[in-house]
Amino acid sequence: MARLFKEPKLVLATHNPGKVVEIAALVKPFGIEVVSAGELDLPEPEETETTFEGNARLKAHAAAKASGLPALADDSGLSVGALDGAPGIYSARWAGPTKDFGIAMDRVRAELGDNPSRDAMFICALTLAWPDGHDETFLGTITGALTFPAKGEHGFGYDPIFVPTGFSQTFGEMDPAKKHAMSHRAHAFEQLVAACFAE
Ligand code: IMP
Repeated sequence: MARLFKEPKLVLATHNPGKVVEIAALVKPFGIEVVSAGELDLPEPEETETTFEGNARLKAHAAAKASGLPALADDSGLSVGALDGAPGIYSARWAGPTKDFGIAMDRVRAELGDNPSRDAMFICALTLAWPDGHDETFLGTITGALTFPAKGEHGFGYDPIFVPTGFSQTFGEMDPAKKHAMSHRAHAFEQLVAACFAE
């Protein structure tokens, strides 16, 4: 059985402002005080693992150890079917040192070329780690199709080129609350809540 989360405070083990906003919104209803790794000036560990789960664990443990608080980390990315799952765990790195997702989205488009397949999915691994070394990890996904050119100003990362299955707007065009209710992050978080926040 998963360990229950009983503490009043949690570190959001990410320096990505888009993720801080989304994860803080997910945690808010549980009345837990959150502080981000950026606010605590925690170092950003290098993502040396080869899976989303491995990198989420690495980031959560680094933040829990450095802060002495439980930490919640997200490792996520876009997986494009016709690109054999790329950019995958390299999703952030495709944006280059300036973190320009216009560059990353252009690269996806260029690598797809005239391949007609537009199937893609977002994947999110969430790890809750405690300073004593224990962790719980959950994986969430959402399927969709890529569309070009990019559309919408909401969200972050690859949101403007991703249309979730069953919808006609990109995540970038959608009201953020609508995205938050259906995203890969929301699906991983639902499992975390059921396992660790249950009474
Ligand atoms: P990392 O988990 O810090 O390695 O970065 C994950 C990267 O995947 C982000 O920088 C985004 O480019 C992308 N990504 C993850 N989740 C989302 C999302 O909800 N929308 C758009 N892009 C995302």
